Amino acid sequence: MFNIESILQSPKDKGPLQHGEGQYKDASGNTYPITHGVADFLLEVDEFVHAEDHLGEVMDEGHPDHVMQQWNESKDHFWNQFLEQEKELKGKTVLYIGSGLDEAFMRFADQHVSLINVDVAEKLLEQLKEKGAEHCIRADISTLPFVDGSVDYIVMIDLLHHFATRSMDPTTKELVRVLKPGGKMYIQEINRFGLFRLPIAWAPLFILNRLRGLKGLYKKDYHRPESYEAPISTTTVKRSLRKAAAIEFKTISTPQYPEVNSIFLFIWKLVRHVPFVQKYCGYHWYLVATRKS
Ligand SMILES: C[S@@+](CC[C@H](N)C(=O)[O-])C[C@H]1O[C@@H](n2cnc3c(N)ncnc32)[C@H](O)[C@@H]1O
Repeated sequence: MFNIESILQSPKDKGPLQHGEGQYKDASGNTYPITHGVADFLLEVDEFVHAEDHLGEVMDEGHPDHVMQQWNESKDHFWNQFLEQEKELKGKTVLYIGSGLDEAFMRFADQHVSLINVDVAEKLLEQLKEKGAEHCIRADISTLPFVDGSVDYIVMIDLLHHFATRSMDPTTKELVRVLKPGGKMYIQEINRFGLFRLPIAWAPLFILNRLRGLKGLYKKDYHRPESYEAPISTTTVKRSLRKAAAIEFKTISTPQYPEVNSIFLFIWKLVRHVPFVQKYCGYHWYLVATRKS
């Protein structure tokens, strides 16, 4: 029987935690509250965290049906690939960082997998917990409250692009730290070189941010500050992962193209079978990286 406390550690003194009345406590006296079943190990609430909590609100505002369909298919595609490739999941620990409101725990119902949802957004985690997710932890990807080498898999969908405008190295180092030697990371991201982004993909970040800022003026459901995130290339992520001692990359482009109008979606469906487009120009890419033994 999996006990999450066997892999938790204090994000401050890196030592063991004691479970007390409505909180965890470390040997240095730091306390971490447990509210509505969500243990809170977030050390700092900055403007990026506010941006994520805000995202929870704007996500409720709805998208056109064809966009929602592409998002849902994309999510199914990712998790089906994961389940197809990882057949021996019984007794394994999967850390889903940046889980948001993704009810991935439903997909593991009969698999005897310990799925741990981690996010900075308190409200999203509380909603996920209410829906039945067992393990929900509030923490930042850069200071994870887990023991070294304690999880078998790390999954992230659309999180690392939040580091496109900052250094990703401390984050990838932290990911590799909590992964068991030989453990795997499945990372899905928004592709900088997605087909309809190609005309601006080569622009420097400050121009991309300016363009995002302009788009944000009329588009309500937009992340702020605009410099917070940017579509990202596999090369950027692989470079950082390599420094952190991850190896054996496998990169795949995904067949869905969310967030475009129905005309662009029609064009995408026509050209997505062209090998170059299929390989490099999807809306998302995902990669699998393994931690060196
Ligand atoms: C675009 S959403 C994706 C949510 C979910 N993975 C999905 O595919 O539906 C990105 C998620 O990452 C979380 N996030 C952003 N920055 C984070 C950080 N530094 N540490 C942990 N989670 C973070 C956000 O709160 C948000 O829920």
